[in-house]
Amino acid sequence: MCGIVGYVGERDACPIIIKGLKRLEYRGYDSAGVALINDTLRVYKRQGKVSDLESTLKGKSLKGHIGIGHTRWATHGEPSDRNSHPHLSSTKKLALIHNGIIENYLSIKQELVAKGYKFKSDTDTEVLIHFIDDIQKHHQCPLNEAVRLALTKVVGAYAIVVISEDMPNTMIVARKSSPLVIGIGKDAKEFFVASDATPIIEYTRDVVYLNDGEMAVIESNSLSIKTLDDVPTTPYIQTLDMSLDSIEKGGYEFFMLKEIFEQPRSIRDAMRGRLIPAKRHVQLGGIQKYLNNLVKAKRIIIVGCGTSWHAGLVAEYMIEEIARIPVEVEYASEFRYRNPIINKGDVVIAISQSGETADTLAAVELAKSKGAIIFGICNVVGSSISRASHEGAYIHAGPEIGVASTKAFTSQVVVLLLMALMIAKNRKTIDKYKLEELLTELDNIPNKVEETLRLNAQIEKMASTFKDAHNFLYLGRGCNFPVALEGALKLKEISYIHAEGYPAAEMKHGPIALIDQEMPVVVISTTDRSYDKIISNIQEVKSRKGKVIAIVTEGEVYIRSMVDYVIEVPNTHEMLMPLLSVVPLQLLAYHVAVMRGCNVDQPRNLAKSVTVE
Ligand code: G6P
Repeated sequence: MCGIVGYVGERDACPIIIKGLKRLEYRGYDSAGVALINDTLRVYKRQGKVSDLESTLKGKSLKGHIGIGHTRWATHGEPSDRNSHPHLSSTKKLALIHNGIIENYLSIKQELVAKGYKFKSDTDTEVLIHFIDDIQKHHQCPLNEAVRLALTKVVGAYAIVVISEDMPNTMIVARKSSPLVIGIGKDAKEFFVASDATPIIEYTRDVVYLNDGEMAVIESNSLSIKTLDDVPTTPYIQTLDMSLDSIEKGGYEFFMLKEIFEQPRSIRDAMRGRLIPAKRHVQLGGIQKYLNNLVKAKRIIIVGCGTSWHAGLVAEYMIEEIARIPVEVEYASEFRYRNPIINKGDVVIAISQSGETADTLAAVELAKSKGAIIFGICNVVGSSISRASHEGAYIHAGPEIGVASTKAFTSQVVVLLLMALMIAKNRKTIDKYKLEELLTELDNIPNKVEETLRLNAQIEKMASTFKDAHNFLYLGRGCNFPVALEGALKLKEISYIHAEGYPAAEMKHGPIALIDQEMPVVVISTTDRSYDKIISNIQEVKSRKGKVIAIVTEGEVYIRSMVDYVIEVPNTHEMLMPLLSVVPLQLLAYHVAVMRGCNVDQPRNLAKSVTVE
């Protein structure tokens, strides 16, 4: 979702801003713009890609040591040049970029219209810059005070950057519920701001994450932070542990493929130092203080969105199976708006790759306010959900740039399994042999994922057969049902082919009506307790001439004889199977999308980090 970049210092700002915007493209956007100050404030913006903006900039004078840039994902008003950011005040001296939503923008707009302000766009952001301008005129105060006063009256979520032609060395930034990071450059004589660290890390590793309700005045040689209540705070400088390689494609055509192939490594990183099979040792360092709440919980609620919600569904099977605690998995967006019943002792596990998803964050805040203990399972270190949680564990997957989540899913499942095993061990609901068996198998999973990735060429070939299909059905049972949902989600989000995931037995209550010789049906039919049942489901599809692609366990012979295509994955414990069975589905979606000419890393209309509800 929208991206922010800003620079003030001795270098030319424009190339830094453009490069930064390109690094943020993965978040999803529909238009881009920059504002630069060199004597005067100039804004260039347009609908389309950053490369389109670059064409607009050709031949223009782009000097200036301060600048801001933005990629917009439309909320208020269609994607268009005029709705793109930065937005200007009517004096054309102030420019603003904004991520998030100003919820009370209409009432503020009405007041401003009554005062004679004219609007060029349909955005809430333009309302905010006129509002700041109006407050500054009315109170005759410095710009930072006008920004502060405006924000105390604003309802909603925002990360903003304001620059002024009259202050050509200053950026004013603020945040509430939308992330903003400040990079401290060489000798603290230059500063960067961004909506996440990716545009910053090639210049500096020293960063300050702005806290909710804080604003900062950044000059070319100083940084001061205070709360919106006007109380100064001391910046907490962190050193980022992120390499430039991790945010570059490293020879792969798309980030998504790179991230699929990174899974043996990312899964190893998710487990590193957290298990010793021979000693039956399993420990998540971040979950200690409140471990007892988990162990004694009467029920566990899991919240998340998208792929993270699917990881939660896998965890439901795992926790109920081995720790014997009832689990409810909820879409964060539904949970937060239906007055959920939270009892004393309930615990909530919030799963989020970005740690910034607005609905998941709001669900966390709601559950916390009702007394639940929150465990955050996030990828992005220092993200809002990780900070809002009582405790948690990072999945350590490294930056995930492709909008379609792949390596985050498998790492989430690994961490959730470790958590389930920790609870089970403490509750004594798992015997030592079973614990050792599962830990040993988990320890070996990266090698099996590596083996599964060797299917790539076979799957690419298969993708060419199905690339023109209009619909796909994905079926699975047990732990593989969430994998069916995830496989369908991957395909629809990047290839735009309609796909549905279903529990295999539920197919006969509806989707079976769709099946004919045109309908590819992916059945995850690995050898587990549902094996016999899923064979019957495959027969039901075949009797209606559906084309079946079966994901089976290596060496399986019976299903092979019934179906049209077979993909063999290595054998593992059924609870760990999602870590293997999801891989061919990721690859299938990837190759189909590439063959259809889709932009795999930046699918239309989607955002990587959904910071609006
Ligand atoms: C967006 C992304 C998905 C992701 C979901 C939840 O829709 O495109 O890939 O699964 O948000 O994101 P989170 O960061 O909370 O896991």
